[in-house]
Amino acid sequence: MAEENNTTSMTGEEFAARLAEENREALDRLGQLSAAGEPDDSLTVERLLHVALKNELEATEIAALWMGTTSELDVKLALARQVGDEAKHYRLISDRLREMGVDADSIDPRREGDSPLFEYLRQLQSTTARVAAGQFTREGIALVRNQHFIEYCLSLGDQKTAALYRDHIQPDEQHHHELGRLLLARYASTHDEQQIARQAARRTLELAEEIQEMARLKSGITRAPGC
Ligand SMILES: [Fe+2]
Ligand SMILES: [Fe+2]
Repeated sequence: MAEENNTTSMTGEEFAARLAEENREALDRLGQLSAAGEPDDSLTVERLLHVALKNELEATEIAALWMGTTSELDVKLALARQVGDEAKHYRLISDRLREMGVDADSIDPRREGDSPLFEYLRQLQSTTARVAAGQFTREGIALVRNQHFIEYCLSLGDQKTAALYRDHIQPDEQHHHELGRLLLARYASTHDEQQIARQAARRTLELAEEIQEMARLKSGITRAPGC
């Protein structure tokens, strides 16, 4: 009983701050792994933007799937905004690829199949889990990876792609992440909800790291943007 009293004492606000701290360590690790090693010659901005398209499409689709099955109005509207933003990111990245001479219309990221993170997120039913995994944590991952990607573009002299991410995509991902934090503070208000949120955040980070490591080992892909 004493333990229960102890564990229910954290407010949603306090929990969101705690989870941000807990995520920080995993995000730092993920960022370091993302930018680890010298990239080989086959790693081009163009290749990384292909990966980005898949991430943006999956982010769009998850938010759209959840929007229809989330009853809380504030979360539903946050997801609606996210659907629009992620689809816009897809278009902006396609436009950039076109400028680079790529036939972007011939790309269909669905050909590669759904990622394990997409499959995990898709089956989440709890609003708190969705907010913790999809908005708060996944968008936090995007912020870290995009920053490494921006630095990589700048190191190659690709100012235009760097500016696209810095000036357009990152501010939206920051907004999604902050909205996730706000909603997490609102809905992770009980011990049980906090446990659900923590577990969803951890699994999201684990899957993101596994996918990232797999891409590095199989295809030499590092510094990829997105989540
Ligand atoms: Fe995005
Ligand atoms: Fe986003």
